[in-house]
Amino acid sequence: MTYAAALGMAVAMTIPNPLSAAVHSAARPANGGTIPRLVTHNGHFTLMVDDKPFFILAAQLHNSSAWPQMLDRSWQSVEALHANTVEAPVYWEQFEPSPGHFDTTNIDALIAKARMSGKRLILLWFGTWKNGQMQYAPEWIKADAKTYPRQLDEHGQPLGDLSTFAPATLQADSHAFGALMAHLRKVDGARHTVIMVQVENEPGTIGAVRDHSPAANAAFNGPVPAAIQQRVGGRAGTWSQLFGADAEEMFNAWANARYINAVAAAGKQVYPLPMYVNCWLRYKDKRYPGMDYPSGGATYNVFDVWRAVSPSIDLIGTDLYTTDATEFRKVLAQYHRPDNPSWISETGFDPKTAPFLYYILANDGIGFSIFGIDNPPSDAQAKAIDAHARNYALLGSIDSLLAQAMADGQLKAAVEALGEPRQTLDFGDWRVTLSFGPPPWGESPAIISNSPDVDGRALVIRLDQQHFLVTGTDVRVEFARAARDGRHGQLLRVEEGKYVGDTWQPQRWLNGDEVDYGINFHKESRLVRVKVGAY
Ligand code: DGJ
Repeated sequence: MTYAAALGMAVAMTIPNPLSAAVHSAARPANGGTIPRLVTHNGHFTLMVDDKPFFILAAQLHNSSAWPQMLDRSWQSVEALHANTVEAPVYWEQFEPSPGHFDTTNIDALIAKARMSGKRLILLWFGTWKNGQMQYAPEWIKADAKTYPRQLDEHGQPLGDLSTFAPATLQADSHAFGALMAHLRKVDGARHTVIMVQVENEPGTIGAVRDHSPAANAAFNGPVPAAIQQRVGGRAGTWSQLFGADAEEMFNAWANARYINAVAAAGKQVYPLPMYVNCWLRYKDKRYPGMDYPSGGATYNVFDVWRAVSPSIDLIGTDLYTTDATEFRKVLAQYHRPDNPSWISETGFDPKTAPFLYYILANDGIGFSIFGIDNPPSDAQAKAIDAHARNYALLGSIDSLLAQAMADGQLKAAVEALGEPRQTLDFGDWRVTLSFGPPPWGESPAIISNSPDVDGRALVIRLDQQHFLVTGTDVRVEFARAARDGRHGQLLRVEEGKYVGDTWQPQRWLNGDEVDYGINFHKESRLVRVKVGAY
C-alpha cells in the first residue's frame, strides 16, 4: 500500500502539517461517540471509551505474535483470560518495508480479530526503540547509518540505538507513526477498537549513559532548556552545572523525551488517541543507567524532566516485573502522581501477580496488563491463566462501573500483606473490616494469621448511601456503622448476583450463617450487593 493510500486521500495532506479540520473531525467521529481520551476530575484519572469510563484488563501478546497467522492461537489465551483489551505491537520494519510504502496487513488483521471477539486494542509502536535498542527499525534505516546515525559511546563507538539528534531519523519515525495514526483514523475513527497507543517501547540508551555524537556533545555542553530549568526549579546553566553527577542521565532523558514527544505529536495531529510511554524501571536496587536499565527512559529519578517536555504523552506506564509486594507498592507510589495515573503497562504472567491488580484499584489506576500470555500449553500456563482469569472475568463484567466509582472516589480496595491479616476500609459513616485468609465457617479465630499463599484481596464500591458492591478472594468482609449519632447499623439485605450490562441481577439472598460471621469470599469469583441501614 502506498503512503497516500494508507492515509486515505482526505488526510493525505495532513502530514506533517495537518489541517485543523481533519483533527476536529477525528475527535468527533461519525457514530457521535467521542474519541477515547484520558480525563481528570477532582484529581482522579479516567480513561473514557465511547464516552463511558473504562478500566483496562489487558493481555499483551509476545513480541513476535502480532502476525495474521499467529492471531488465532494467541487469542485462545486472550479468551481464556477474559481480557477486555489486547496489547499488540506494530512493527515499524513490517509497516514501512521501504521508505514511504506502508503495509497495513498486520494492523488490519489485529483490528479485525479484536472486533470479532469484542476486545479493545492498545497498539505498541515498536519504532526507534524496543527495550532500549533499535531492533524494529526497518532494514533501510539499519543499512544507512550515514543518514540515520547510531548513538555513540564515550569512546566514539556506535551503540545499538539510533541517535535522537539526527533530524532524518526523527522525520522518518514521525512520518511512519503519522501514517499509522492516519490509517487508524480511517479504519477505526468511528469504531474505537483501538483505545490507546504506546509510543516506542522501553526507550533509553544501552551501553552508555548518553549519546556522544557530535550534535549530542554540543547540546550537552550548551544551556539546559528553559522548560527543564523551570520544572526542576533551577537556575540557568549547563547540564553539568545544574545536575552535577546526574547531568548525563538527565540530558539523555531530555533528548529522548523531546524526540518521542515529537513522534507522538505527529500522530496526534492526525488522530489524537491517548498516548503513553512504557518504562524499563530503575528498581530492584538497580542503579547504573545504561547498564542496569536504559538511560534516559522515564525512570522515576528523571520523571520531572520527562514531563517538562512531553505534553503529547498523556501518561507514563510501568513495566513492573516483580512478585514482591513491597517492591510493587514502592514503584506504584513513585508513579502515582498528580500528573500521572497508575498504569501497569506490563507485568509478569505469574499467579503471584494476580492479587496485585487490586493495588491498581486501590490506587485509582486506569488498568493492568499482563505480558506474554500466549505461551504453548503447559501446567504453568494453565495456572497463570486460572489465577488471572478469576480477576478478569469478574472485574470485566463491571469495568465501567469500576472506573466510574474510582472517578467518584467511591471505590476502595485492599490486598493481603504479610503481617497485616486484618485491614479496614473507611467510608465515613460505615467501616468495612477485611480479615484475610481462607475464611473458616463460623466465628473467626481470635488471632488471625495470613493465608498460606498470601493472595487475599477485596474490593468495595459504594453505590449510593445504602448500597455497597463487594468482591474478594480469601477474605471475610464485615460492615460496621461508624457514624456517631447513637444509632446502630444493620444489614438489610445481602444479595449474591451479577451485572448484565448496567443492570444488577440477584441470584440469591444471603442470610443466617452466610452473613452472621461476615460475608466470606473464597477462591471462586462472586459479586455481593449489600444494603445497609440504621435503627
Ligand atoms: C519488556 C518489553 O517491553 C517487552 O516487549 C518484553 O520484551 C518483555 N520486557 C519481556 O520480559
